[in-house]
Formats: sequence, structure tokens, C-alpha cells
Amino acid sequence: MARIGILTGGGDCPGLNAVIRAVVRKGCEVFGHAVVGFRNGWRGVLDGHVMELTPQTSRGILHRGGTILGTSRTNPFQVEGGLELVRENLAAYRIDGLIVVGGEGTLSCAARMAAEGVNVVGAPKTIDNDIAATDFTFGFDTAVQIATDAIDRLHSTAESHNRVMMLEVMGRHAGWIGLYSGLAGGADVILIPEHPFDIAEVARHIRHRHAAGHLFSIVVVSEGAVPAQGTIELPAHEADQFGRPRLGGISYSIAPEIERRTGFETRVTVLGHVQRGGSPTAFDRVLATRYGIAAIDLAHDGAWGRMVALRGNTMTDVPLDDAVAELKRVPEELYDLAEVFFG
Ligand code: F6P
Repeated sequence: MARIGILTGGGDCPGLNAVIRAVVRKGCEVFGHAVVGFRNGWRGVLDGHVMELTPQTSRGILHRGGTILGTSRTNPFQVEGGLELVRENLAAYRIDGLIVVGGEGTLSCAARMAAEGVNVVGAPKTIDNDIAATDFTFGFDTAVQIATDAIDRLHSTAESHNRVMMLEVMGRHAGWIGLYSGLAGGADVILIPEHPFDIAEVARHIRHRHAAGHLFSIVVVSEGAVPAQGTIELPAHEADQFGRPRLGGISYSIAPEIERRTGFETRVTVLGHVQRGGSPTAFDRVLATRYGIAAIDLAHDGAWGRMVALRGNTMTDVPLDDAVAELKRVPEELYDLAEVFFG
């Protein structure tokens, strides 16, 4: 019998509880292992803050958003003596290996830990869907559905008032949520970080559409969208513990420009954390469950330093290093496809 630890780190995401449930159910009931939950991401490993997880304590959580373990954006490598503390506390709780459920920041720490000889297995989570080496992360489908519902709702009010409506969605360096929800919701312009935008062109699309008799437009913008060089200036943002900008609110700078250049009243909705809240979709519940089962299988086999990954519809695993080497960004051909529907 082994003792397997699990933590959930980074921004929370619908489906985390489904992973925990799957790890505990298979870990305890099939393999006979004990599962120990570390609270609040890497913070709990540093502080030795744990919670014993059993099939009983992890029942009834499949459909619940958030994470029963809590999360944080703590980076143990930014903490004085962090690596040693992690080693000491894992030894103190007699942990044979740790399942790290996280996004790019949390998994990068896991990859460094693996390089230092700590027994870790990764499972990719993020609504941003920007982890390389896996086709989809859980939480993404739920976020896209929430954003698509918002676009549907904005349509009717935009039409009633003859307005341009901007919907700002999450996505720091990758515009997957913007692209998918924009396509699904029939947005008239989509702005994503991968494709720097020219505000003059955005205004042109909108004017063209209104000249053709349409009385409203929907613009979807990723929070991390970037203007093309020499076009407009956007305010800078402060950074988090991983040195990444804390975004949100870019549309408040873009909307007045659209209004000025088109003459059409332009309003903003920033969807924010609503995208990460609430119940996961059926797709995310199934995907998260598959990731949880695959992660405990890897831990059971002692396949440390690897991350579970979805390729096509097949669950597989890859070296953690491959998963964090670079971000998975929206390919140009997918943006070209979306552009067909602009204006
Ligand atoms: O990484 C997921 C994410 O939701 C990003 O899309 C967003 O930029 C960020 O987290 C927001 O983080 P926080 O909840 O810490 O403000």
C-alpha cells in the first residue's frame, strides 16, 4: 500500500473535484492506497496542511465546481528553502508520490520538482486550454459554454438598442475561450492574443456590417488581446507570483475607440470569474474523471515526472517537461476560419 498525495493549484476550474473523486475512488478502492490531500496548492505542501481523503469524504462532489482542497498561486521556488520544505513535509506525511493538478504555473513547478527527484505526476487543468501536449484541458468546455450563453444573451439586448456589445473573456496568452465562444455564439469580430488587432480594421468590420443593414454587432475579446504595433496603447498590468500579468478590463480601453471610430454606442461586459464558477459540463466531468483515473494509474506504476494527456480521444501520458516547455496557442488557420464570419 502506498500513500499518494494530491494538490490542486493555480486558478480553480470546473472539474477539479471530479479528478479528486476519481483519484480517491480508484486509489483507495482498487489499489488499496491511502490518498492525502494537500490544502491550497503548493501552499499546503509548504505548510504541511493536509486533509485525509477517503471514498466517503469525496462522495457527492462530481458535479460541484471549485475544489474541496482549495487552491492558491503559491510558487514553492519563490519561497526561501521551498524545495527543502516540500521534501521534508512529503517525508513527514510518508508520501510516496504526489499528483499535481494544475495549469502552466503549477505544472512548471511540478516539472522542476521532478527534475529535483521529487515523485510527481501531473494532470492538466485550466479553463484557458493552453497546456501543450494535450488536446483539451478540463474546465475549458464549461468556460466556453458559459461565454457562449453570455453571447446569446447579449445578442437580444444589442439588437434592441442598436449597440455594439463587447464581451471580454479570460485567456492570458491563448485565445481559446474567445475563439471557441465567438465561433459558437456567432461573434462579428474576435480579438485574441495570438493575432494582434488593428483597431481601424475592427471599426471597418463594424461599419461594413452596419452599412449592410445590421443594426448591432458583437465583439468578443480575450483579456490578453494585444493591439498591433503602432495602433493603440493599452495600460500595463501588475504581475502575480509567477510573474504573469493580472489581466481583466482591456475592453474598457477598446470600446471607447470603437465608439469613436464607428459612431455606434459600444458597451462592455467583462465575464470574469463567472467563467470559472459553478458546475462543470458533462464533457468536463468525463474528461476530469478520465484524467484522475489516468493520474492514479501513473502514480500506482511509479511513472513519476509524467503528465496525463488527451490525444484525440485517447488518454495517454507525456513527460512533464514537454507539457510546460511552451504554451499551446490558437493556430493561425483556426483564426482564419473565424475571420470568414467577421463584419
Ligand atoms: O489561468 C486561468 C485564469 O482563469 C486566466 O484565464 C486568468 O487570467 C487568470 O486565471 C485569473 O486569475 P485570478 O483568479 O488569480 O485573478
